[in-house]
Amino acid sequence: MAKTGMFKTQAKRILILPGDGIGPEVMSEVRRVVDWLTRKRKIAFEITERPVGGASIDAFGTPLTDDTMALALHSDAVLLGAVGGPKWDNLPFEKKPERGLLRLRKEMELFANLRPAVVFDALAEASTLKLEVVKGLDIMILRELVGGVYFGEPRGITTLPDGTRKGVNTQVYTTPEIERIARVAFDLARKRGKKVCSVEKANVMESGVLWREVVQDVHDREAKDIALSHMYADNCAMQLVRNPRQFDVIVTDNLFGDLLSDCAAMLTGSLGMLPSASLGAADAAGRRKAMYEPVHGSAPDIAGQGLANPLATLLSFGMMLRYSFDMGAEADLIERATAAVLDQGYRSADIMQPGKTKVSTTGMGDAILKALDQIG
Ligand code: IPM
Ligand code: MG
Repeated sequence: MAKTGMFKTQAKRILILPGDGIGPEVMSEVRRVVDWLTRKRKIAFEITERPVGGASIDAFGTPLTDDTMALALHSDAVLLGAVGGPKWDNLPFEKKPERGLLRLRKEMELFANLRPAVVFDALAEASTLKLEVVKGLDIMILRELVGGVYFGEPRGITTLPDGTRKGVNTQVYTTPEIERIARVAFDLARKRGKKVCSVEKANVMESGVLWREVVQDVHDREAKDIALSHMYADNCAMQLVRNPRQFDVIVTDNLFGDLLSDCAAMLTGSLGMLPSASLGAADAAGRRKAMYEPVHGSAPDIAGQGLANPLATLLSFGMMLRYSFDMGAEADLIERATAAVLDQGYRSADIMQPGKTKVSTTGMGDAILKALDQIG
């Protein structure tokens, strides 16, 4: 074990939750990069690993144990793989793997979900959209993550007197909830292209009317240096495939953010490339609770075959270094290594193109470590 004093700073306590499907395989590759940083950069990480989702259901009968929830609340950051799979699809709603993920988000109060969609030059042709539409794309979808229809009350399925049934969910946002996400949007834009597009359906939803008013108010009071526009969510979906480069930061609610970020992911060539960060409010010391996860799911159909792309999870770890640990140089290193392996022609199955070198999940990990050795 490392001697005290050998490392630059106090060990960063990371809770790793590999989850289900391809989660564990992609996480193994990220673990190798964590080890590389410890070896080569003398950065100390204290890693704890626990099951979540279906894996936790199998081990403990619940998608997230109280013990793991407490660990998440007390670690410096959480790195999650993916949850869910057909094995657990028929469980009652409250027992499903996804509930574990939603509980983590809610109890850690991770209201700000950053989903950057960046098109690496080497992958511009892998997009299903034309090269000239996506080349150089770099946008940030900021999704509100602990409110709206995902958590609104009342909710549920009831049986009516005539025997038919009624399913209800509630879309609800309060002024403070909208204000805090709007502030994050303006702060992000300030470090980027200084543009925010706020997205809702104010033409049909009162919650959307309020959303638009509050975002505009925060802008007028605190963020006059940022260009703010408003767009209806359906139009935004269309504009994302028509001309995605018109956007810089898109700020939107939980449900629209879920939809629009999947759409934005595909602009980059594959869901397998998109990382995300979910952040809470800053405490007195400026620290935020945080969880990092790839935008892709558990992909049970390809699990265990070496077909998964570990880059989204690796880039999520990079976001952890940047946002939780203020290690911009190391985060840059991970992004540069990713760009390098793509430039060198290495491709996992999801981004394979003619003439390129197809590699397995582990093969991609090997290539990343080699690139880190070269440029790090
Ligand atoms: C996501 C996922 C989740 C969501 C699921 C797995 C609950 O689609 O993170 O985008 O809907 O938020
Ligand atoms: Mg989603």
